[in-house]
Amino acid sequence: MSTQVAVAKPSTGLGVTDRKDLWWISPLAVFLGLMLFIVYVTFRVFYNAHYVIDTATSAYLLSPVYSPLLIIEGLPPWFSPAILILWAPAGFRLTCYYYRKAYYRAFFFSPPACAVSERTKNGYRGETKLLIFQNIHRYFLYLALAFLVILAIDVVMACMWPDGAGGKTFGVSVGTLLLFINVFLLSLYTLSCHSLRHLIGGKIDCYSCSAMGRTRHKMWRGVSMLNRRHPLWAWLSLMMVPVTDFYIWMVSTGNFTDLRIF
Ligand code: FES
Repeated sequence: MSTQVAVAKPSTGLGVTDRKDLWWISPLAVFLGLMLFIVYVTFRVFYNAHYVIDTATSAYLLSPVYSPLLIIEGLPPWFSPAILILWAPAGFRLTCYYYRKAYYRAFFFSPPACAVSERTKNGYRGETKLLIFQNIHRYFLYLALAFLVILAIDVVMACMWPDGAGGKTFGVSVGTLLLFINVFLLSLYTLSCHSLRHLIGGKIDCYSCSAMGRTRHKMWRGVSMLNRRHPLWAWLSLMMVPVTDFYIWMVSTGNFTDLRIF
């Protein structure tokens, strides 16, 4: 005589889990953080003013939202030059391996967290079909590296103050420091990229066999070290962009004075 054992069917449905911890806090924080960023930057893009300070008595400050400065004749007033700029950094973030995990969880509940049931029961299909575009992350990385150079040039220009006699003199203000911190954090984020790590350390059989291999190994170790904190650099660099832009906006409208430190 055979014995039959009834096995309870696991319950499914969005958010069903046996977890007892506050697993929903992380996706909620990601949702709020990204929404805050998206709403602010979208507003600033279409505000389309007060993003550059270029006077005879102050440092040259350009908001990272509008860098590089594009002056295009004949554009309708509603067309912001930031639209022509931001698709590249936005594409870099959108296709970032860390952000994918974060926004798949926070925006699409796919799944909301580890060991928490997801929205759809269609089965895991990976990043195929519509999501195949995520594979272009490496190409956005090349653009992001170019943006680091552009933003570093903005910092150099923010250190050149008018000397009152038609020339330039070195100076550093709070605005200069904000621009520097901004490009520094963006550098940590970009240089800790998973694609860059693969680009530097991948497709090689022997590191120690040549001087180039040994150099690549050292660089790979450096990128790997940064890579461990990639989510942290992602958030810090994301938040620094609106902070820097807001400061320049306020200085430009006369609400703040850009304090010269030396
Ligand atoms: S993986 Fe995040 S920027 Fe490349």
